[in-house]
Amino acid sequence: MTTKVLVTGATGFLGRHAVPILRAAYGPDAVVGVSSKDYNLLERSQVQAMFDDHKPEVVVHLAAYSGGIGINRAKPADFYYINTILTAHVFEAAAHLGVRKLLYPFGGCSYPADATSPIDEGQLWRGYPQPDSAGYSTAKMMGLVAARSYRTQYGLNATTIIPGNMYGEHDNFRKEESHVVPAMVRRYYEAMLENKPFVEMWGTGKALRDFVYAGDVARTLPFFIDSFDESGPVNVSSGTSTSIRELAETIAKLVGFQGEIRWDATKPEGQLVKLFSADKLHGLGLSCATSLEDGLRSTIQWFNAHYATAGDGLRL
Ligand SMILES: NC(=O)c1ccc[n+]([C@@H]2O[C@H](COP(=O)([O-])OP(=O)(O)OC[C@H]3O[C@@H](n4cnc5c(N)ncnc54)[C@H](OP(=O)(O)O)[C@@H]3O)[C@@H](O)[C@H]2O)c1
Repeated sequence: MTTKVLVTGATGFLGRHAVPILRAAYGPDAVVGVSSKDYNLLERSQVQAMFDDHKPEVVVHLAAYSGGIGINRAKPADFYYINTILTAHVFEAAAHLGVRKLLYPFGGCSYPADATSPIDEGQLWRGYPQPDSAGYSTAKMMGLVAARSYRTQYGLNATTIIPGNMYGEHDNFRKEESHVVPAMVRRYYEAMLENKPFVEMWGTGKALRDFVYAGDVARTLPFFIDSFDESGPVNVSSGTSTSIRELAETIAKLVGFQGEIRWDATKPEGQLVKLFSADKLHGLGLSCATSLEDGLRSTIQWFNAHYATAGDGLRL
């Protein structure tokens, strides 16, 4: 059997957005999604079995071990080890087994901790990333070294992209593991359910970030598969700026939380400005244009529909 597009990590957050979009682009039977339950990609033999079983023309390699800052602090070695092996195994197999295209994302946390916003792709190697997540971010960034190396030595057409701060349906809403948007959605949603008079937030709320709807990132994938034959990376983000205060107020409004939002300026709030340049993306004729309010509305509708019944599969 030859599978046109094989998606690893298909049960993850981005994978659940990517598979339907790839099926719409290439046909429902042309795209196969796999997870760790199908093949444990830490085992070289299972990576080989995956390629033997599917003989993919295109691999979208989304399998990774990822999470929020708390779990990154607790398990930096696991983040380093697992992501290094997942990256190395899939590139090595793809290069030797005739894959026409390999598409690989890594995160904006790979940029130097002191990068200047808006952060463009040229800043990637200019400094060490934020130390709390460096195990994860440097391991993931090796995908770019792999893309360039395997392109040079084996002619593998590998492309890397850097999705920004993604949010959307199917995100990881677990308390210990979540990123800022799902953590806030859950917090305000539960505060609404419990009728809490206030929610206390760390910092002033003035820090600026750009957020990108995962559906928008997924919609760019066919372009990177078919029409972009460079190693990258390309930032895939909205290129817009949102304050944490605006994010909190928008989420509070959309979940129906009517209490007060209290800002504790004595608590840390991270870098004041961290935004990604979308110039290169726009130069390719692509954009991630879903408004924050529209993207959050869909995310919260999904969260609301799954909150009471979700099993571990939805990671609530
Ligand atoms: N989330 C973001 O904001 C963000 C931003 C930039 C880049 N990225 C990158 O985008 C990709 C997808 O991220 P995500 O947020 O969708 O990740 P995720 O939700 O954590 O999903 C991870 C996926 O990887 C699979 N996986 C983990 N360990 C595996 C193993 N040993 N063997 C096979 N499969 C394994 C999981 O399978 P199971 O379900 O079976 O465990 C799951 O399908 C990653 O490469 C990540 O680095 C994410």
